[in-house]
Amino acid sequence: MADSPLARYVGASSCAASSCHGGAGEKRDQWVQWTAKDVHRRAHATLTMARSTQIAAAAGIADPVHNTRCTVCHAPFAEVPAPQRLAVLDRSEGVSCESCHAPAEPWIRSHTRHNSPNSTPPDLFTYLDKVADGMRDLKSLYVRANTCVACHENVEHDLLQAGHPELIFELDGQSVSEPKHWKEAATFSGAQAWLVGQAVALRETSWQIQRPGQSDERLVDRQAGLLWVVQKAAPVLGSAELGVLENQVEPSKTQALAEAIAQTAAKLTWTPAQTTDVLKRLAGSAPDFRTTGPRQSVQARRAERLVLALDRLLAASDRSLEAKLEPELKELFRLAQILPDFDPAKFATALEKFAAKL
Ligand code: HEC
Ligand code: HEC
Ligand code: HEC
Repeated sequence: MADSPLARYVGASSCAASSCHGGAGEKRDQWVQWTAKDVHRRAHATLTMARSTQIAAAAGIADPVHNTRCTVCHAPFAEVPAPQRLAVLDRSEGVSCESCHAPAEPWIRSHTRHNSPNSTPPDLFTYLDKVADGMRDLKSLYVRANTCVACHENVEHDLLQAGHPELIFELDGQSVSEPKHWKEAATFSGAQAWLVGQAVALRETSWQIQRPGQSDERLVDRQAGLLWVVQKAAPVLGSAELGVLENQVEPSKTQALAEAIAQTAAKLTWTPAQTTDVLKRLAGSAPDFRTTGPRQSVQARRAERLVLALDRLLAASDRSLEAKLEPELKELFRLAQILPDFDPAKFATALEKFAAKL
């Protein structure tokens, strides 16, 4: 469901009571985790640092702390219009609870009546009720990927030129590093999260590439790298229609296909056999690095997405496999990380070793 345009924000302090999300113990400690460990808590503070001043100055922005072009991702509360503020919002919260979970006023009441089997009186509201009231359905991998990708893949061209770090979205690994303040459902698969995340990232770069003044060779390479990895994995969906991505298709078509792939992948009941299938397809892609067709900088971007994929697919497989392949994966990471001097033939050889041991 789309966020209601008039829904009001309450701020993280409303979530911090110890009986809600500010308590001890796994089920009630989301506020504690976010305050103490979550990278998002410091997103606003980053704007006050010298590096931000430099990036901003190079982009002709005088004050990054008070400029929409920075606060849109680093301090979303600064962007909330007055009618949508139920309380005084503290912009220094950075990326706060409601930046991901949606403005809370419409669902906070249904949400604070606990949904536990032992509660008296009996519970009135389920997770789906809260979602119907406007809480974002982050249990859906599709909704979740869309939430993160909004801040994690595209940066405007002039900000990149000014020195903003390039963003590379990968849902599964980045959810682990956030770190997670939630427990995944029993049906959760990191491999599925990876695929949904990459399809959504492909959709976003395909969109960005079509915007006037945004495209350059670097973005073209990035999009090609994503297109390649998604194309390699897409047959797992078992739909011929979604497998027909061809290299060099029009970005508008890729955008639409990537969206369809993301939606389809998120709806699957993912099985361990599917993880193995994708892992094998990707591990078997050494010949793609031996062809002379794509330019070296495109090969480098394929490799970048490939190593992130192998890492997540192994993490989603059984532990012994992950341990067994660690040295080979490490070598692939090393070879992929030397971007300007990337050597496709060496990478192909290392990938063959990885595949042989799989
Ligand atoms: C409103 C924008 C926004 C949203 C939504 C958002 N992030 Fe972030 N994220 C940021 C910013 C800004 C930073 C940089 C923080 C800093 O200043 O160090 C960041 C940093 C991170 C980092 C550490 C740096 C990195 O890329 O490894 C991780 C991991 C991360 N976010 C994961 C996620 C995940 C997972 C989601 C979705 C569940 C998400 N983020 C949603 C804005 C956002
Ligand atoms: C599209 C969302 C977005 C916009 C717009 C944006 N940032 Fe960021 N920024 C991020 C994310 C996400 C990261 C984390 C990247 C990572 O670590 O991989 C980040 C990282 C940074 C970092 C590095 C932080 C660190 O700890 O290494 C600085 C500095 C920074 N941003 C400053 C700015 C400034 C200044 C602006 C405005 C000119 C700006 N950002 C605009 C999303 C954004
Ligand atoms: C960067 C995005 C992001 C931010 C910021 C964030 N969350 Fe979450 N949160 C998620 C995601 C993704 C999930 C997983 C989906 C789910 O389980 O509902 C989640 C799950 C939860 C859950 C369900 C826990 C479980 O095990 O089922 C609670 C409660 C929660 N968050 C509270 C908070 C509170 C309180 C804050 C602020 C202090 C916060 N979140 C900030 C993304 C975020």
